[in-house]
Amino acid sequence: MFFWLSFFLLAACQQHDDDGGHDGHDHGAHQHANDHMHQTPFDSLVERFNNPERDAWQKPDWVIGLMGDLEGKTVVDIGAGSGYFSFPIAAKGARVLALDINQRFLDYIKQKRDAMSEKPAIETRLVPEDNPKLMPGEADDVIIVNTYHHIGNRPDYFHKVKTGLKPGGALLVIDYKKEELPHGPPLEMKLAPEAVVSELQQAGFTEISVDEESLEYQYVVMAR
Ligand SMILES: C[S@@+](CC[C@H](N)C(=O)[O-])C[C@H]1O[C@@H](n2cnc3c(N)ncnc32)[C@H](O)[C@@H]1O
Repeated sequence: MFFWLSFFLLAACQQHDDDGGHDGHDHGAHQHANDHMHQTPFDSLVERFNNPERDAWQKPDWVIGLMGDLEGKTVVDIGAGSGYFSFPIAAKGARVLALDINQRFLDYIKQKRDAMSEKPAIETRLVPEDNPKLMPGEADDVIIVNTYHHIGNRPDYFHKVKTGLKPGGALLVIDYKKEELPHGPPLEMKLAPEAVVSELQQAGFTEISVDEESLEYQYVVMAR
């Protein structure tokens, strides 16, 4: 059974810093996350992201199902990487905007898309580190998987994400639990879900729920 802990974060006085210094400002840990990832060669990263064994713990169908019926919707995949989520989201009938700071990943997605007989509606977009470059209300939903901890000044960044979301649209943050795990970055680069909630609250999201039970290695934070 899923255990959902819901917060309705309405008062500014509820904002707190309970993650040992995660005050939402950029201390450079996100840069370490990118440096750490790029210690692995590009082809090995793609192999790791696309590893079919990942499906068992990543549960992509369950994750995508959290966004409901996607037919005709526009879903933004921030830090799309090899498109592990972009392709199955597009297969559900959504138009996907695959965002990344790394052109090599976007080229990989484009080549894979163009080699398919029925081309999925995936558009790639190269973005700077500090801005998802969304037009106001462009996205029905936004998903960011294993990438939240790569981003600097997250309250500012996710305020921009909020502007790019249609009213009522969902932001789905999936990232590694702050524990020693067989997957994910070193412990010091991981973020507790409480830090994510606090930062999203600072970004202006008011309805936030946390699920730490459904996925083995990751939590799910849904914000509207
Ligand atoms: C660990 S990978 C996750 C890829 C994919 N979401 C998945 O679950 O397989 C992180 C991705 O985020 C990208 N990235 C890092 N910082 C970013 C930023 N500030 N904005 C957008 N993408 C970023 C990296 O280039 C990389 O493709």
